[in-house]
Amino acid sequence: MRFAAISSAVCVGLLPGASATIYYAGVAQSSGEFGAWSPTQTRGTGLPGRFGVDYSFISTSGVDIMTDQNKVNLHRVAFLLERMCPLEYGLGAKFNETHFDYFKQAVDYITKTKGAYAILDPHNYMRYNDPSSQPFSGSVIGNTSDSTAATTAQFGAFWGELAKRFADNGKVMFGLMNEPHDMPSSLLVSNLQAAIDAIRASGATNLIIAPGNAWTGGHYWTKGGSEANSNWIHKLTDPAGNLAIDIHEYLDQDFSGGHTECTQDPATNLAGVTAWLREHKLKAFITEFGGSNTTACTTMLNGILDYMAANDEYIGWTAWAAGPFWGTNSPCCTDQRQLGSLEPGSKAAGGGPSLYDTVWLPVLQKKVPELLQWEGPASVNGGELRTKP
Ligand SMILES: *[C@@H]1O[C@H](CO)[C@@H](O)[C@H](O)[C@H]1NC(C)=O
Ligand SMILES: *[C@@H]1O[C@H](CO)[C@@H](O)[C@H](O)[C@H]1NC(C)=O
Ligand SMILES: *[C@@H]1O[C@H](CO)[C@@H](O)[C@H](O)[C@H]1NC(C)=O
Repeated sequence: MRFAAISSAVCVGLLPGASATIYYAGVAQSSGEFGAWSPTQTRGTGLPGRFGVDYSFISTSGVDIMTDQNKVNLHRVAFLLERMCPLEYGLGAKFNETHFDYFKQAVDYITKTKGAYAILDPHNYMRYNDPSSQPFSGSVIGNTSDSTAATTAQFGAFWGELAKRFADNGKVMFGLMNEPHDMPSSLLVSNLQAAIDAIRASGATNLIIAPGNAWTGGHYWTKGGSEANSNWIHKLTDPAGNLAIDIHEYLDQDFSGGHTECTQDPATNLAGVTAWLREHKLKAFITEFGGSNTTACTTMLNGILDYMAANDEYIGWTAWAAGPFWGTNSPCCTDQRQLGSLEPGSKAAGGGPSLYDTVWLPVLQKKVPELLQWEGPASVNGGELRTKP
């Protein structure tokens, strides 16, 4: 095992002549999907929700610190489809304009006020109509055996409309969906392709980031037999040639991000997906990863960041997670202990340092490249690198 791990890491990691570059680096902003979860799985809980009370998108002070002091250039902003497209409208091109305006304010703050890049993140697991027990509740989009399910065409219409609204802002990237799972991979590809086609038909040339099935887990990319992402996701076609792959990768025993201990070596576990990316000449972002404030997690977080920096297939990352609504709760990696989040200024329960102080600043911050892209549209080919203006 050990020998196999080392040899695969070497052949994936250090191809002569490869000039690996991270163009985009930062943090996932998670709070827009808050306030809809129900312990009794009561449909409609928290919908539409009160902005600023049940959910929010960013804290401007947190984004200020992350951008100005920590010099990150990327924020991934989560939102709920059921708030953008209320159930009475259905999924599609008709939005709740009040909700959209709040969302747009956050995205404009990141991209226009701060000059950074933003990934739009519908945090819906390829489901729509019941977020009360996410990630498992709600009808799978495009399930033709479920008369209550939104259709593939509706998913396309939703993305066509959202894309049109951000088409004039090249700093906005379109993350098509957070963590699809437990659905046929053929349906996933149909849904994603419908979204890509509608986005391009709207005239938007923005960078699109497409996930895989099975929670878009990097370690699992080539697994699952005929359903494996490695058999499907490269079938996506983008007429604008501005498409990257979205990968999530946690470092604990079951890759869930639930546990304190980091035991899964990232270089070993990402070898399969990296080879697949290379075979199909694709680039990727890892938009969720994380670890606790332990010695093993420090080693493995450095490992995943070094791995991305060494492999040309990876062009960006966002760590999980900051956001104004975590309080002392932790977004991952703590066995439910309340150690706070990556939000600047957050605290652990009892007032101790948060994951921002114990993981972001001492570990992740050191791997934010000094040179990133700060001008021009986001591109799968990257852009001009420079220090933060
Ligand atoms: C739209 O969003 C606003 C603000 O959250 C909310 O007050 C309103 O009820 C929503 N409308 C629908 C139809 O959900
Ligand atoms: C599609 O809907 C049918 C009928 O409700 C259900 O049995 C099936 O599990 C659903 N498929 C998926 C992938 O959720
Ligand atoms: C992690 O941070 C928490 C909260 O500040 C602290 O209580 C704990 O001792 C830290 N753990 C390690 C291993 O440093």
